[in-house]
Amino acid sequence: MLPLISPTLIEPSSNLIRDGDLVIVYENVNTMKAVTVSAKSRYDSKFGTFQQKFWIGKEFGSKVCAQSGSRGYVYLLRPSPELWTQVLLHRTQILYVADISLVCLHLELRPGAIVLESGTGSGSLTHSLARAIAPHGHVHTFEFHPGRAKEAEKEFSEHGLSELITVQQRNIEELGFPTEYLTGKADALFLDLPSPYKVVENAAIVLKPNGRFCSFSPCIEQIQRTRDALVANGFVDVECLEVLMRMHDVHTERFDLMGADDEGD
Ligand SMILES: C[S@@+](CC[C@H](N)C(=O)[O-])C[C@H]1O[C@@H](n2cnc3c(N)ncnc32)[C@H](O)[C@@H]1O
Repeated sequence: MLPLISPTLIEPSSNLIRDGDLVIVYENVNTMKAVTVSAKSRYDSKFGTFQQKFWIGKEFGSKVCAQSGSRGYVYLLRPSPELWTQVLLHRTQILYVADISLVCLHLELRPGAIVLESGTGSGSLTHSLARAIAPHGHVHTFEFHPGRAKEAEKEFSEHGLSELITVQQRNIEELGFPTEYLTGKADALFLDLPSPYKVVENAAIVLKPNGRFCSFSPCIEQIQRTRDALVANGFVDVECLEVLMRMHDVHTERFDLMGADDEGD
């Protein structure tokens, strides 16, 4: 019997939830969890106890009610790179939606593009890179921590993304991206590393002419050194951007207008 493969996170094969599918259980805007559906399991939350066998055959997006406990409800959402970023298990610091959006746009990602990434970390960004270059492009992502590289590879495979993403365990700051098969091949390159400036010379070799380079750094010193290395290696139009996402808290208030005159003071 063939093993059951979850529908890919970026190209769903079915609208209906099947045994073994990954769903994002939405309790409320602050609480979502990734669950692999199993007919034999239950899902416990403050909204009650849910037998997962009743989820099978429902459409993604369905509201389902608890069988016992507080008898509330949850929604069963189809996984996507955006939702995965919100629920994934953190093995490292990760990129969130504001930075991911900017990175994907500035790297000028499009279907068919070849992208290089290091380090893979928790794979938060990698999912969005993969969706942007699908269905014919490829993400080559490199991580020097063997456990993280293995976990990421397993996760991408479970999410049906193995055709789009290759994970390799490699020290990119020491060895650079492999020039044997990547010289002049990459449309875009992204670094989330402690010393990105060490990789710039190699980046100039593996990128295509006019390829896009982006490095994510929390410290100004890393940024200055990377900028100097970029200029020294022939990169042009170097920019430094910071993204701040501000949520607006919308609520209704009543004002006491007693005492205001008819002119509307
Ligand atoms: C902050 S995490 C990356 C998070 C990732 N951008 C995400 O969104 O999930 C940085 C990763 O770089 C890896 N790393 C650090 N130095 C490295 C090197 N020299 N070569 C390859 N990977 C490295 C770390 O092990 C860590 O997993």
